[in-house]
Amino acid sequence: MPITWRDALNVGEEDIDSDHRQLVEMINSFEKAISGPQIDHKAVARLILGLFQYTKDHFEREEALQRRIRYPYYESHCKAHRDVIRELHSIIEGYGKLKEEGRRDAIVRHLASFLRDWLIKHIIESDLRMAPYIKEYNRNKTLGSKKPLVARVR
Ligand SMILES: [Fe+2]
Repeated sequence: MPITWRDALNVGEEDIDSDHRQLVEMINSFEKAISGPQIDHKAVARLILGLFQYTKDHFEREEALQRRIRYPYYESHCKAHRDVIRELHSIIEGYGKLKEEGRRDAIVRHLASFLRDWLIKHIIESDLRMAPYIKEYNRNKTLGSKKPLVARVR
């Protein structure tokens, strides 16, 4: 069953939320591509590489946001990102080396379940913890931007 996006999953920063929606769509497309009896491995390989690159870019954007808002769990979050990239890299490398169709099918199914579990954990258990910090940062920014105006009037 495809993953469905819900507004409750928004962290409150449009760039990051749109990345997450995009990741959900990419994982849904990937699952769709491997759901039939005959897997088109050329198409699947393209989707996998696209997903890998997008995930890396997303992590960079997310880490930049965390530095900006001085997120207190930045270090452990970055470590979790690195672990995911390492795991994804090793699955993809293994997939690239396999020639036998049956084993390739098995590895893409394993990858699909890894991606689904990871995405859900990544967004729901990990990224949503950023929401109150993003809100606080934006609130302070709004207040801060008003201060000079008040000072000037005085
Ligand atoms: Fe994220």
